[in-house]
Amino acid sequence: MKRLLLVSLSFIICQLSFSASILSPNGNIELKFSVDQTGRPVYEMSYKGKAVIKPSFLGLELAKDKHASMGMSEHDLMDGFKLVDEKTTTVDETWQPAWGETKDIRNHYVEYVATLSQQWRERVRSNDPGMQLQPRLHQRRISIRFRVYDDGIGFRYEFPQQKELNYFLIKEERSEFAMAGDHTAWWLPGDYDTQEQETQETKLSEIRNRMKEAVNWGNSSVAVFSETGVQTSLQMKSDDGLYINIHEAACADYATMHLELVDAQTKALTTKLGGGSNAYTPNPTPSEWPLPKPFTFVSHLTPDATGLKGAMQTPCETPWRTVMVSDDARDMLSSNLILNLNEPCALDDVSWIHPTKYCGVWWEMIVGKSNWHYTDDFPSIKLDQIDWTKVKPHGRHAANNEKVKRYIDFAAKNGLDEVLVEGWNVGWEDWANMWKRDVFDFVTPYPDFDIKMLNDYAHSKGVKLLMHHETSSSTQNYERHIKEAYELMNKYGYDAVKTGYVGDIIPRGDHHYSQSMNNHYLYVVKEAAKHHIMVNAHEATRPTGLCRTYPNLVGNESARGTEYEAFGGSRPDHTCILPFTRLQGGPMDYTPGIFVTKLSEWSDNTSWARITIAGSLALYLTMYSPLQMAADLPEHYEKFDDAFQFIRDVACDWDDSRYLEAEPADYITVARKAKGTDNWFVGGKCDENGHTAVIKLDFLDKGRKYDCTIYADAKDAHYETNPQAYTITRKVVKAGQTLKLQEAPGGGFAISLIAR
Ligand code: NOJ
Ligand code: CA
Repeated sequence: MKRLLLVSLSFIICQLSFSASILSPNGNIELKFSVDQTGRPVYEMSYKGKAVIKPSFLGLELAKDKHASMGMSEHDLMDGFKLVDEKTTTVDETWQPAWGETKDIRNHYVEYVATLSQQWRERVRSNDPGMQLQPRLHQRRISIRFRVYDDGIGFRYEFPQQKELNYFLIKEERSEFAMAGDHTAWWLPGDYDTQEQETQETKLSEIRNRMKEAVNWGNSSVAVFSETGVQTSLQMKSDDGLYINIHEAACADYATMHLELVDAQTKALTTKLGGGSNAYTPNPTPSEWPLPKPFTFVSHLTPDATGLKGAMQTPCETPWRTVMVSDDARDMLSSNLILNLNEPCALDDVSWIHPTKYCGVWWEMIVGKSNWHYTDDFPSIKLDQIDWTKVKPHGRHAANNEKVKRYIDFAAKNGLDEVLVEGWNVGWEDWANMWKRDVFDFVTPYPDFDIKMLNDYAHSKGVKLLMHHETSSSTQNYERHIKEAYELMNKYGYDAVKTGYVGDIIPRGDHHYSQSMNNHYLYVVKEAAKHHIMVNAHEATRPTGLCRTYPNLVGNESARGTEYEAFGGSRPDHTCILPFTRLQGGPMDYTPGIFVTKLSEWSDNTSWARITIAGSLALYLTMYSPLQMAADLPEHYEKFDDAFQFIRDVACDWDDSRYLEAEPADYITVARKAKGTDNWFVGGKCDENGHTAVIKLDFLDKGRKYDCTIYADAKDAHYETNPQAYTITRKVVKAGQTLKLQEAPGGGFAISLIAR
């Protein structure tokens, strides 16, 4: 009966007259908000008069808990609300990031805060056994805060501390995003543990049929939850040319959000419980709330090991839910909405944080030519029971003194700041997927890695070593060792760590993107900051702009990186999608720069990178990151030293960035002005179809001359048949001129413009 009533009421939403209308500063975006007849909060959003989000409900379902009688709230935060206060303010401020794509970032928005009061009556039994049920009136307040920008909106729920709302458990957040049509979407299957899949490009109505083939079952940790579940950041394009992106900002002490699409076949929303299994599992206590109309996305949070989505204590708030929109794809890439919605920098001193170019003892292990581990002598390893000096090495251990010195020499010669060394510490013999808790201690080097000598050697040449901590997802083990591990780094002069979370989470049952794991990643970043250490976390949750608040979080992987070029390869359009999706929340350690793309030329690996050399150079511009790796082997770069010149020259911190051309999955062209200089670098990357880039040099200083070096695909270059064919052209250019460059299939170009 309740269901029926609610279903019929939900149609009334269509005729709703909204009580609040908020325009963005330039008037392009309009947000409307109201509370409907049943007391459900509802919003809609338009851009230049076109619907972006049709009327959509907001709310949270709370979990029933055995501690309800002790003050744990369990009445849903879904309906019965009254709008009791509204506040609208305008903010226009400019701030400077510690590092970034531009020197200044303008934060200009109109804010609307709706305060909602919820009342409900309940008949409760008193303690006296003879007494009748007594009516009791409950009352509590929450706020929904919207920020309306010219390029999108953000909103979040806020829960003040109050008598009737102190602790609550989230069963599911029910933020709806009703799409106005069957848009084209670039999506990853919703998964609680990995985002290393290839992106799918389909209409919304085709997501269900594509799901099974979209799942990356080859990854070591997979937990999909629904046949229409997708990840954020989700990029879409409408038939009438609107680019729409849904993501989140400032996800702290909260689970990562996925989106579940309600389509014509949806009968109920899915809620998979925790536990690390791979199958779709319907929720045993399904939602009682009505389904929204087809083409509506509903938020779906990552559960913890118990299946719950969040344990909250007021005062608290959710992350921001973001919807970016424009009729120009370039605006999706230049938007600062997600950074702006994060809190200002929390660190007093950021002078020790620096953009970094690095190489590393890494690619040869990924490709399979050498190993992280040291010996084949043991069927398994117990860290405290092995005398490593007596162990017989197998001879393929990459992180050895001689090899690391060679990488240090290479870095020093080519102006690279740091050298990553993986496999330096004991424990790699049985590190992955064994449900093993004490897998690494993060302080004991293998016998052939002289930690003092190598750091001294690097420092004598102006280079630093970059630390590696693979946790194997044994998170409590990492937290137990973290202080000692960071003290060791301080002692030897490391200032950056690459962390990793391969495999299912230990303790068992938890997921990579749950509230507790998101707390772990942030704990690591904060501990690292205390030790002046920069963090680059692989396999951690996708970023949501927290690098504004903690700028020592200089990188994340959290997507399909270059390593997959050695695991079967990624499509040529992959890097033309990532800036629209994964990069919205923060930089990616994509580890570009593969020059010898056919791996069989130097190893037994038959995989190959689907990119040309000129395309690889472009990634240093199009895949923005303050941390950039030159991932290929030194001897490969030495073979193509004239092309490697661009990697030597290119900056990784910028005063200005201009996106010149962009279309998701097709091409991206960007010009960036190197920090503290008058020099510009331009990069263009395209998909398998090639692209003609037209670059108007109107961003250069008028009247000034620039030495221009163009690294382009040769006429017959092709990512598959001729990836190493490039041309290098030098000329003098000035503002007002136009460059026309042909990008090969799977190719691109890179340009340096040095001011005279
Ligand atoms: C996966 C990471 O993405 C990769 O870069 C690293 O080398 C391995 N894990 C081992 O930690
Ligand atoms: Ca990875």
